[in-house]
Amino acid sequence: MSDEPLLRVSSLSKFYGSRVGCEDISFELYPGEVLAIVGESGSGKTTLLNSIWTRLTPTSGCVSYRMRDGTFRDLYRMSEAERRFLMRTDWGFVHQNPADGLRMTVSAGANVGERLMAVGDRHYGRIRETAIDWLARVEIAEDRVDDEPRAFSGGMRQRLQIARNLVTGPRLVFMDEPTGGLDVSVQARLLDLLRGLVNDLGLAAIVVTHDLAVARLLSHRMMVMKDGHVVETGLTDRVLDDPRAPYTQLLVSSILQV
Ligand SMILES: Nc1ncnc2c1ncn2[C@@H]1O[C@H](COP(=O)(O)OP(=O)(O)OP(=O)(O)O)[C@@H](O)[C@H]1O
Ligand SMILES: [Mg+2]
Repeated sequence: MSDEPLLRVSSLSKFYGSRVGCEDISFELYPGEVLAIVGESGSGKTTLLNSIWTRLTPTSGCVSYRMRDGTFRDLYRMSEAERRFLMRTDWGFVHQNPADGLRMTVSAGANVGERLMAVGDRHYGRIRETAIDWLARVEIAEDRVDDEPRAFSGGMRQRLQIARNLVTGPRLVFMDEPTGGLDVSVQARLLDLLRGLVNDLGLAAIVVTHDLAVARLLSHRMMVMKDGHVVETGLTDRVLDDPRAPYTQLLVSSILQV
């Protein structure tokens, strides 16, 4: 891991009127590091994630990102065009609902190829070849390349979403409940695949999940949230094996249903 962070989040807060979404959150994320944000429903996980990647405008605080040229930029001071460029190239998004991350009425190959075109590749044959390569990496057979995601199972759609995002070689991937809507057996396979890709590509990721097993499998570090606040943070194995905050102890002992 590099000695400079990729992302710096400082005192980030988001209020919905007088209701706390998340409050005073600070952390740094290093290249290649996977951070899990866990906590029960309504604890502020999605609010925090969306406030980081500028989907939501925070009430206060600051988020800066280290660009490929090494300079730190305040995400909220970037132009809309610069932010969109980051989203299309350097960042990936795996949504819980694949329909939020895919174009459901264009082919699987085009879903992957589109991201490549967005970074300037115009060579049809090469785009198609790369798309097929990526479909294979997420275990989608070549003969499905012209099918629309509508014709795919939930697990396949999720794998297609992953291929679409990773094809541009992002450095940071945001995931919100990536295995949320899937059967347990499909979840296990997808997690395995995700873990392999994240490791192979050295990706940094922020994974929101209410499932501690997902955090255990994917993340190096975790942050436990409750009522919009971070109650505990630390290396994943430490937090899960030796939770210190009483709330984390409850979570881990499964007394709380999250
Ligand atoms: N658009 C909104 N308007 C008002 N309040 C909101 C809005 N979105 C979220 N909240 C509130 O902010 C708090 C945090 O919600 P958030 O969706 O971030 O939780 P979460 O941890 O992602 O929950 P889940 O696990 O159910 O997805 C909750 O009290 C929620 O009711
Ligand atoms: Mg959520």
